[in-house]
Amino acid sequence: MTDKPAIEAVHLVKRFGEQIAVNDVSFEVPQGTVLGLLGPNGAGKTTTVRMMTTLTKPTSGTARVAGHDVVTDPSGVRRSMGLTGQAATVDELLTGRENLRLIGALYGLSRRYMTGATEDLLERFSLAEAGDKVVKEYSGGMRRRLDLAVSLVATPPVLFLDEPTTGLDPRSRVELWDVLRELVDGGTTLLLTTQYLEEADQLADRIVVIDQGSVIAEGTPLQLKDSSGAAAVVVTVSEAADLARAEQIIRSVVDDVHVDEGARQLTAPADGLRDMTRIAVAFEDTGIELDDLGLKRPTLDDVFLRLTGHRAEEPTEEPEEVLS
Ligand SMILES: Nc1ncnc2c1ncn2[C@@H]1O[C@H](COP(=O)(O)OP(=O)(O)OP(=O)(O)O)[C@@H](O)[C@H]1O
Ligand SMILES: [Mg+2]
Repeated sequence: MTDKPAIEAVHLVKRFGEQIAVNDVSFEVPQGTVLGLLGPNGAGKTTTVRMMTTLTKPTSGTARVAGHDVVTDPSGVRRSMGLTGQAATVDELLTGRENLRLIGALYGLSRRYMTGATEDLLERFSLAEAGDKVVKEYSGGMRRRLDLAVSLVATPPVLFLDEPTTGLDPRSRVELWDVLRELVDGGTTLLLTTQYLEEADQLADRIVVIDQGSVIAEGTPLQLKDSSGAAAVVVTVSEAADLARAEQIIRSVVDDVHVDEGARQLTAPADGLRDMTRIAVAFEDTGIELDDLGLKRPTLDDVFLRLTGHRAEEPTEEPEEVLS
């Protein structure tokens, strides 16, 4: 391990004719951490990943993967990384097992090594039983898992995943998250793109939000949520009879309180932990029993709406293009 970032984007720009798909994107990903590249359809996520994985050349700028420059040392980059693209890359007519062995052979790995590695990977991705089925007969979730297994054959230190869980049912998604966490615990550096705010929140140490080719925000999931303001302190009293007094107490700390009698809940817009602590202290020695006192932070969805003016799930006006 060194202090050098495992992945660096350095003023990456990609033009397609008149159109700027990626407009001066820079970021760093420390070793053994996860960066979530978050953005809606057409934001430039895939194009950024394609430049970083040497599939397409930057118009200007560059990127480094494990210290190798994508422009001057593309083969060094390719040796250090694995990629699971947005479109499946496995061969439909082969079985899962055959796909893995084929990739191993392409990497020049010995047959003996690959026999063990193939079984390990099938096991890890819950594909052991389906290993001898042709991929054509796999479900979407099984294909996605095989895609990921294939990208791990050469045990790369750096892994790029372009929308790894798109099209998966919630259970498969959570399973895949677990596998990814294990990889990162083992020291792998991960860059994943996603349109799922929850996914970035779950997996990423840091998030870079891009929209229309540009970075519009960057930070930890927590920082992004905090920066959108709108946190609230939520107090639930045990006895409905205490609601009125509780409201007065909260008003002594913050200006505004919303009371929900049915839920015995009081909600006050607040700055964050500081206000929450002040409210907690104000309740001391009042004899009012509380069921709960907590801080409700805005979701990443709220963050995205504030940053871009539209919700992340919302399709852009242009018809969706089919891109590999
Ligand atoms: N080969 C290409 N030729 C022309 N335009 C392209 C090409 N590839 C991408 N684009 C354009 O660049 C922009 C960014 O596309 P990109 O695929 O990187 O977005 P994305 O964030 O991956 O979107 P999605 O979430 O839909 O996968 C889009 O406007 C797209 O139409
Ligand atoms: Mg894409």
